[in-house]
Amino acid sequence: MRYRLVLLGAANPETRRMLLDARERQGVEPYAFIDNDPAKWGSEFCGLPVLGGIASVEAIDAPDIRYVNLITRDTRTRYLTTHEMLERGCRFTNLIHSAIDLTDVTIGTGNYLQAGVAVQAGAVIGDNVSFHVGSIIAHEVRVGNSVFIAPGVCVAGCVDIGDGVFIGANATLLPRIRIGNWATVGAGAVVLSDVPDGATVVGNPARVVRQAPVPFTGHERLPTWSRISEPRSEGSPPGTGSSPACR
Ligand SMILES: CC(C)(COP(=O)(O)OP(=O)(O)OC[C@H]1O[C@@H](n2cnc3c(N)ncnc32)[C@H](O)[C@@H]1OP(=O)(O)O)[C@@H](O)C(=O)NCCC(=O)NCCS
Repeated sequence: MRYRLVLLGAANPETRRMLLDARERQGVEPYAFIDNDPAKWGSEFCGLPVLGGIASVEAIDAPDIRYVNLITRDTRTRYLTTHEMLERGCRFTNLIHSAIDLTDVTIGTGNYLQAGVAVQAGAVIGDNVSFHVGSIIAHEVRVGNSVFIAPGVCVAGCVDIGDGVFIGANATLLPRIRIGNWATVGAGAVVLSDVPDGATVVGNPARVVRQAPVPFTGHERLPTWSRISEPRSEGSPPGTGSSPACR
C-alpha cells in the first residue's frame, strides 16, 4: 500500500527536504501537517495543508494514513503528543532520509532521522526518537524511546541512552557511559561518566547543574505502541525500509 504521511509540527523548514526524499526515493505521499497552534490551521507549510490539531486526527484517519511526530522542543512534549495520538488510534511510521545506512541497526517506529545522520552497526534504537543533522551514533549504542539528539552530537560506541533523554547541539558522549532516563545534556557538553536519571549536565567536563524527578515512570514504553504501529525491523539495508512507508 502507498501510504499518505501526516506530520505533527509545522515548524522546521528542513522538513521540505525530508518530504522530497520521501516522495521521490521512498514512494510515500506527503499528505498534510497537523499542529496544535490554531494560528496555523488552514495555512500551508512546506506545500502541504495544516489541517488542525491532534483532535483532528479522527477526521483525517484512514487505513493508508501514517503519522510522524516532528516535535523536538522538549522530549516531554514529544512523548505526550505521541502518547495522545496513539490513544486516538494513530498509526506511526518512520521518516528516515534514504541516504542513511541502517545496515545491522535495529530501529523501532515513529522515528525521525534527518539527512546527514550516521548510525553505525550494532546500534539499537527505540521508538519515537528524533535525530538531527550531523549527529553520529556509533557502534552498539543503545537509544531508548522519545529521545532527541540535536545537530552535531557525537555519541561514542556502546553508550546507553535512556528514555526521554534530550542531548543539545554538538555534545560529545564518551564510550560505554549510561545517560539516565529523562536526563538533559547541554549543548557542547563533553560527558565523561554516567549521568543520573533526570539530571541536567553541562560543560567540559560535564557537571550536574539540575536534578529533576523522572516523569512517566512505569509507562515510558508508550503502552499501545506495539498494538497499532508498524513492527520493529532489524538490519534494514538502505532503501529496503524498516516499514512499508518511510525507512
Ligand atoms: C542545558 C540547558 C538545557 C540548560 O537549560 P536551563 O535548564 O534553562 O539552565 P540555565 O540556562 O538556567 O543554566 C544553568 C547553568 O548552566 C549553565 N549552562 C547552561 N547551558 C550550558 C551549556 N550548554 N554549556 C555550559 N554551561 C551551560 C548556565 O550558564 C547556568 O550556569 P550558572 O548557574 O553558573 O549561571 C540549555 O542551556 C542547553 O544547552 N540546551 C540545548 C539547546 C540545544 O542544543 N538545542 C538544539 C536545538 S536543534
